[in-house]
Amino acid sequence: MQDLFAVLTPGDEEWQLAQSIDPAKIPAHVAIIMDGNGRWATMRSLPRIAGHRAGIEPVRTVVETCARLGVECLTLYAFSVENWKRPRSEVDTLWRLLRYYLKVELPRLMRNNIRLTVIGRVESLPVAAQEELESAVERTARNTGLRVNLAINYGGRTELVDAVNRILDEARRKGTLQKLSVDEDMISANLYTGGQPDPDLLIRTSGEMRISNFLLWQIAYAELYVTETYWPDFKRIDFLKAVAEYQKRDRRFGGLTNRTSKPAEWMDEPLGVPAP
Ligand code: IPE
Ligand code: IPE
Ligand code: MG
Repeated sequence: MQDLFAVLTPGDEEWQLAQSIDPAKIPAHVAIIMDGNGRWATMRSLPRIAGHRAGIEPVRTVVETCARLGVECLTLYAFSVENWKRPRSEVDTLWRLLRYYLKVELPRLMRNNIRLTVIGRVESLPVAAQEELESAVERTARNTGLRVNLAINYGGRTELVDAVNRILDEARRKGTLQKLSVDEDMISANLYTGGQPDPDLLIRTSGEMRISNFLLWQIAYAELYVTETYWPDFKRIDFLKAVAEYQKRDRRFGGLTNRTSKPAEWMDEPLGVPAP
């Protein structure tokens, strides 16, 4: 977290917000649905793709801020399996932008010890984009700092289907299919994010109150944070606001909290049923 203060201006609003963040309660995994690029552009009478281009800077900012805060994993939703429904020209330009981002960012990722991984069915992408991704993943594979998962051609349901098929394939290979029994740990381990902690905080920009097929299994107990801000306008201060808000949440995981006053046993008439 000291790394963050190195780039803040003492006394200003952002610095004060950072002061309010508890370094012991930084979310281990943050996931972001980066939404609103198209509307941001349309509002400015620009083509939608101008919004996607403007969405690169916030990616840079959020990656750097997570690294400075000491977040372990950051998952960014960049393209869903449903986004192929968009006009061909928009989709093609997105692949061009992805290649541009990877080329330009690679030195910075290396400098900041960031490891890039891709989650999704990458094999359906144009070959040039696949190659650029593979190369970035390979070159950053030995970095030990922040892990950035780029969700590309990603779908939560597709991921679950792929996980189940991996489990079945392995059992077939081992000849254990007949007595196969599946549990939660096996499913988690076979997701694209296998081995990573589940997201603690899920941010969605542009105000939409939905999940859009993102990390369906992993967000079971993530804290949700929706902001009206369109992705291209999302700044470091907006990210810090999300983290500060996250730290105020009372995460109960179905149990009880320290903050509730008295346990049920304390009551003379638990469940409101009169004693016989
Ligand atoms: C998110 O912005 C980026 C992608 C889905 C690739 P959108 O393109 O969905 O922007 P809106 O929601 O139309 O404003
Ligand atoms: C979700 O945004 C996908 C990404 C941000 C990559 P969409 O814009 O595709 O989601 P919907 O269509 O509004 O649900
Ligand atoms: Mg959208």
